[in-house]
Amino acid sequence: MKKTENCKLIRKREIADGIFDFVVESEFMAKEAQCGQFLHVNCGDSTFLRRPISICDSGNGEVRFIFEVKGKGTEALKNKEVGDMIDIMGPLGHGFEIPKDVKNPVIIGGGIGVFPLLKLAKELGGNATVFLGFRNKDRVVMEEEFERTSKTTIVGTDDGSYGFDGYIASAMDQYLNFNECDMIYSCGPMPMLKAVKKIAEERGIKCQISLEQRMGCGIGACLVCSCETHKEGTDRYAKVCTNGPVFYSEEVTLND
Ligand code: FES
Repeated sequence: MKKTENCKLIRKREIADGIFDFVVESEFMAKEAQCGQFLHVNCGDSTFLRRPISICDSGNGEVRFIFEVKGKGTEALKNKEVGDMIDIMGPLGHGFEIPKDVKNPVIIGGGIGVFPLLKLAKELGGNATVFLGFRNKDRVVMEEEFERTSKTTIVGTDDGSYGFDGYIASAMDQYLNFNECDMIYSCGPMPMLKAVKKIAEERGIKCQISLEQRMGCGIGACLVCSCETHKEGTDRYAKVCTNGPVFYSEEVTLND
């Protein structure tokens, strides 16, 4: 179920250069939100177009989302102040599935793709092993929050300036040589998703990935977000906004 609501901004923090952490009030969205779903946010810029932003966490009448300033919309959004109202539609999309029989989950996120994974880590009951990859030390965020909500958290940087030295998918691959895993959950840049999909499929591990896609309506009406999928031997086009953003890796073709 979704709703469009004017939500009051109650907390705001810049957690890294150009990355803003917002918490808004909404009893409805806090109750309805599932991990991996997103909000369609009217940023208040001159275009009035909504921007899709993942839900990072929710509960107790509050919804948290984190975004990177990338264009006019998010530039306008970052200027909202505590007490301002934000027009938000949500929660939208199909999020992560948590099958009851999953015993050894692994979560892997890269860059701004780590944000929707926090709620997932909580809902996995602190049982997940988490891999977080960033470009360099200055971009590392949320390490302590993931440490508090997971079994183990491994952080890496592409340039080796902090934690594991290299691509975070390689760290996960090395871990899987010696540890059991029955589900991989992933969100991040396309090269990382491709590497994760390959590793999961070669090892025969089920894998869910969250896709980032340009969106228009966010509710399945405009087809801007179409992606190629395969299910039960049939190729078809799915809508990332309603069928996703989370898909099983074997269902999707990952293009650059
Ligand atoms: Fe319009 Fe998905 S964004 S159909």
